[in-house]
Amino acid sequence: MMPLNSYFTILLIALLFSYTSSSIDTSTHEENFLECLYSYSHNSTSISEVVYTKTNSSYSSILKFTTQNLRFASNTTPKPLFIITPKQISQIQTTIICSQIHNLQIRIRSGGHDFEGRSYVSEVPFIILDLTNFREIEVDVENRTAWVQSGATIGELYYTIYRKNQNLGFPGGECPTIGVGGHISGGGYGTLVRKFGLAADNIIDAHIIDVKGRFLDREAMGEDLFWAIRGGGGASFGVIISWKIKLVQVPSIVTVFNVPKTLEHNATKLIHKWQFLTSRIDENLEITVILQRVNSSIKGKSKSTVQAIFQALFLGGVDKLIHLMQEKFPELGLVREDCVEMSWVESVLYLYGFPKDEPLETLLNRTLAAKDIYKVKSDFVKIPIPEVGLEGIWPMFHEDGAKDAMVICFPYGGIMDNISESEIPFPHRHGNLYQIYYSVHWHQESDEVEKMKMNWIGKLYSYMEPFVSKSPRAAYINYRDLDIGVNNINGYTSYKQASVWGVKYFKNNFKRLIKVKTKVDPLNFFRNEQSIPSLMCSRDIKKSL
Ligand SMILES: Cc1cc2nc3c(=O)[nH]c(=O)nc-3n(C[C@H](O)[C@H](O)[C@H](O)COP(=O)(O)OP(=O)(O)OC[C@H]3O[C@@H](n4cnc5c(N)ncnc54)[C@H](O)[C@@H]3O)c2cc1C
Ligand SMILES: *[C@@H]1O[C@H](CO)[C@@H](O)[C@H](O)[C@H]1NC(C)=O
Ligand SMILES: *[C@@H]1O[C@H](CO)[C@@H](O)[C@H](O)[C@H]1NC(C)=O
Ligand SMILES: *[C@@H]1O[C@H](CO)[C@@H](O)[C@H](O)[C@H]1NC(C)=O
Ligand SMILES: *[C@@H]1O[C@H](CO)[C@@H](O)[C@H](O)[C@H]1NC(C)=O
Ligand SMILES: *[C@@H]1O[C@H](CO)[C@@H](O)[C@H](O)[C@H]1NC(C)=O
Ligand SMILES: *[C@@H]1O[C@H](CO)[C@@H](O)[C@H](O)[C@H]1NC(C)=O
Ligand SMILES: *[C@@H]1O[C@H](CO)[C@@H](O)[C@H](O)[C@H]1NC(C)=O
Repeated sequence: MMPLNSYFTILLIALLFSYTSSSIDTSTHEENFLECLYSYSHNSTSISEVVYTKTNSSYSSILKFTTQNLRFASNTTPKPLFIITPKQISQIQTTIICSQIHNLQIRIRSGGHDFEGRSYVSEVPFIILDLTNFREIEVDVENRTAWVQSGATIGELYYTIYRKNQNLGFPGGECPTIGVGGHISGGGYGTLVRKFGLAADNIIDAHIIDVKGRFLDREAMGEDLFWAIRGGGGASFGVIISWKIKLVQVPSIVTVFNVPKTLEHNATKLIHKWQFLTSRIDENLEITVILQRVNSSIKGKSKSTVQAIFQALFLGGVDKLIHLMQEKFPELGLVREDCVEMSWVESVLYLYGFPKDEPLETLLNRTLAAKDIYKVKSDFVKIPIPEVGLEGIWPMFHEDGAKDAMVICFPYGGIMDNISESEIPFPHRHGNLYQIYYSVHWHQESDEVEKMKMNWIGKLYSYMEPFVSKSPRAAYINYRDLDIGVNNINGYTSYKQASVWGVKYFKNNFKRLIKVKTKVDPLNFFRNEQSIPSLMCSRDIKKSL
């Protein structure tokens, strides 16, 4: 790696020179970029096998493969000049260097689940660096660690761990197709969070390629950068190649339940009570509440109502769970018949919606998640919402915009209360009872429907304001929401402008993220609408820090 690194340093000096010269050439050079790629590649045959130009017959299928949100798949969505699917680290290094020389932005894509499509869309000329071929997973059972490459999905990771040892797991997200690269760099929240924290809380080393094309591990990148990439959001600091993760101990038997309650079955009272206990109950129990509109038979007539599904994972057997629920939440009326015992890895598929006997290989299916058009927002709740506050939400579920809408409340507490706000960039710790995920889906491209859906979710978000966290009204970067503020993608972003969204995601950690960014990528090459700004590229940031 060393000769390569010094080679890239020389290239970078040339690059810096061109940046500082008085006339900045903003034109893009597609052909020159390709020429650069070929001439700086050690093996031009192998690089030619991973570059997809717009005229290539596979371009469109490669682009679509992990494009999850079809809101960013229309004809009018800006498309990349090239898609590069590297197989070797040197190809990533060359791509980073040539993109800088030829003034092209890079969008880094692992699993493509970004809710605002930021891993594959840009308003300025860009290429996609798609890590789909970086998917190796090496599990070290003895030391309870694993190395996982960014392009692997969380389902592939869970499956591979389970096949090595059935009592090991990893506290990551719930949708098996999420990419490890974006997910962990934004935090990573799942059913094991109350016992073990976020995915990003369980990282012990990482490999990244920085803006100079250098390959760095934890020791070489230093603790500041290693801190920043564990929750500061992917794509601001470099290309993360792999993570070394800490595996956690899961019992052989876990218990799950799904208990639906409509408004007619006291859902409001149950949710109200749930708010007081969900973050305080035994850390082995995670109870999520899923809200949606349903048709329910009421006195023999089908009627539209709101349903709350109380969905839980308990790290233990059914007897213990029933006992715990009778003691802490008797109002839910949980009975043994509501519960199913299984292994932890089976619970991932079950809670995703599959039957208990679904083959575990389904976790390896990279096209599992149904593609759709959607918009998502998030909130954090610190004080229980009064019953009248909840009651004000229900009429909104009967509006047209609420068809295929879902609100999910994910509990906090447990170990999340014990981790300091500045341990990693993710700051939403002690004092948060639960996190809210709001989503609306639709299935057909239509400006009219889109407007109606956006209005609906915006109205709900406005309604919730008095009940959720304030100053800042916090948000979760993995539930990316461009409505809360964006950078100026073509020019300078002021601190004031960036902090509007930055402080919501990162609170006080935003300042440290800016310092790290300024050190590792001063010219702000790795940027997108919500990337961490550099001091060098902003006039007012310095005095603000
Ligand atoms: C169906 C669905 C279910 C979800 N469920 C959960 C959940 O249970 N818990 C949860 O916490 N989140 C959940 N999410 C959100 C998810 O964690 C984020 O969208 C996450 O960023 C996805 O990572 P990705 O690699 O798939 O996405 P991508 O779209 O590939 O990347 C997301 C961001 O990270 C950047 N990035 C990606 N890879 C790298 C890399 N290797 N180096 C540097 N930057 C990189 C991208 O440029 C982009 O900015 C869900 C999302 C969806 C669509
Ligand atoms: C270059 O890459 C091709 C395809 O990956 C491979 O077949 C060939 O052996 C490589 N050449 C050298 C010199 O490594
Ligand atoms: C498309 O690009 C890939 C990757 O570079 C290459 O292997 C393939 O031959 C190209 N196909 C066509 C039809 O040009
Ligand atoms: C466990 O870690 C130690 C120390 O890093 C190492 O020497 C050993 O080889 C590892 N075990 C395995 C099975 O790799
Ligand atoms: C709703 O709660 C009340 C008491 O708060 C109780 O009397 C009633 O039976 C409950 N209804 C249902 C359907 O559980
Ligand atoms: C509910 O009933 C309405 C009217 O009968 C129907 O259009 C709608 O599809 C139903 N919704 C669900 C979720 O079943
Ligand atoms: C993966 O899941 C999708 C969606 O459920 C399904 O259509 C497809 O057949 C599955 N692929 C495999 C290989 O099982
Ligand atoms: C959090 O800290 C408290 C007090 O130190 C301790 O009792 C508790 O076990 C910790 N919780 C977790 C999940 O580590």
